[in-house]
Amino acid sequence: MLNLEFVRSQFPAFQRTIEGQPVAFFDGPAGSQVPQSVVDAVADALINTNANCGAAFVTSQLSDEMLARARESCADFLNAPAPEEIVFGPNMTTLTLSLSRALSETWFFGDEIIVSRLDHDANVTPWVQAAESVGVVVKEIDVDLETCTLDLDHYNSLLTNRTRLVAVGGASNATGTVNPVKEIVRLAKTVGARTFIDAVHLAPHRLVDVQEIGSDFLACSAYKFFGPHVGILWGKSALLNSLTPDKLRPAPDSIPGKWMTGTQNHEGIAGVAAAIEYLASLSGGDQSIPRRERLTDSFQLIHEHEQKIGSQLIEGLAKVESLKIWGITSPERMEDRVPTISVTHQSKSPQLLSEELGRRGLFTWAGNHYALPFTEFAGLEPEGTLRIGLLHYNTADEVERLLFHLNEIC
Ligand SMILES: Cc1ncc(COP(=O)(O)O)c(C=O)c1O
Repeated sequence: MLNLEFVRSQFPAFQRTIEGQPVAFFDGPAGSQVPQSVVDAVADALINTNANCGAAFVTSQLSDEMLARARESCADFLNAPAPEEIVFGPNMTTLTLSLSRALSETWFFGDEIIVSRLDHDANVTPWVQAAESVGVVVKEIDVDLETCTLDLDHYNSLLTNRTRLVAVGGASNATGTVNPVKEIVRLAKTVGARTFIDAVHLAPHRLVDVQEIGSDFLACSAYKFFGPHVGILWGKSALLNSLTPDKLRPAPDSIPGKWMTGTQNHEGIAGVAAAIEYLASLSGGDQSIPRRERLTDSFQLIHEHEQKIGSQLIEGLAKVESLKIWGITSPERMEDRVPTISVTHQSKSPQLLSEELGRRGLFTWAGNHYALPFTEFAGLEPEGTLRIGLLHYNTADEVERLLFHLNEIC
């Protein structure tokens, strides 16, 4: 079992109180808290290795070594075949905008791409804009609003031999739905389309495996998995090599450097490696065990705990008067969702509910969560939903507290 006391003791942010009550963070989908080891790694980089890369003096060499180690950590985290396939950037959105521009140069007028209505806009608008700039048709996969899952029959019907790209999310940051990305990629390959997976919302909950998914590209963001604000793009080396991203002349022509515009957030990248090490440490296995194996064990523990508190939350929410849960609620389908739960109330706005909860030290989000394609499709604009996001550091007691206060407010 996950040792929750050990987990929680590592997060300085959990010391915060409001009116004598500890704060409960249900805002993980917008950004997770970080363990002390991540704070220390960021500070250490700023104190001991604070130099730009590639110079002939010791702090620069240490900085180079740190970046190489961080890239290896990320390769383990995503099961990437090679560390040079890991690209760092400011965030997932910026990396996706850059990739979309580069990929669109390989498209022709009349080609087609497919995005989904369940995605965060960062996995829709970059592709739509890139498509529009070269006269490419954009198709959108519908969502079954009963369960907030992608309509795979509709997806299948959209694929043609002109499909150049399929871009879908690993999990929805609005409804928690886990998409069957392996199957989506398999079908895309039957028509020769490239595939991009937005794993930003999946990565804190399930151990990502780019080789198992089989996609061409995948992106995630470390601030959602207990690290600092750094985006990570993985791509197959042949594609990263052959594409031409926007870059400056003196910047490297080789990967990953050609994809990393300007000077990177080195201290943040040091923190990314520490976040991955934190996750690997949750299994309790010693350092001699390969990191990927430790991560696999850790994510098993994370999954078990999240399934428990996620079910508890859904069962409790289902009993709150006048509340509708958007997404999978059936106990048999819990594997198809992560514990990110959107609700709406018959008369009280998500903003009002979130404000009331916030006053009680319970931090949730209200709005469209940038999952605008979904909130528009579901008729949830302009108010969106109240989103309650659980991560492995949340407890059953916190869930009880939230349910108690939500009942009271409703
Ligand atoms: C599912 C999903 N995709 C993409 C993003 C954008 O990530 P970033 O903030 O790193 O650009 C987010 C951020 O909330 C997200 O939840």
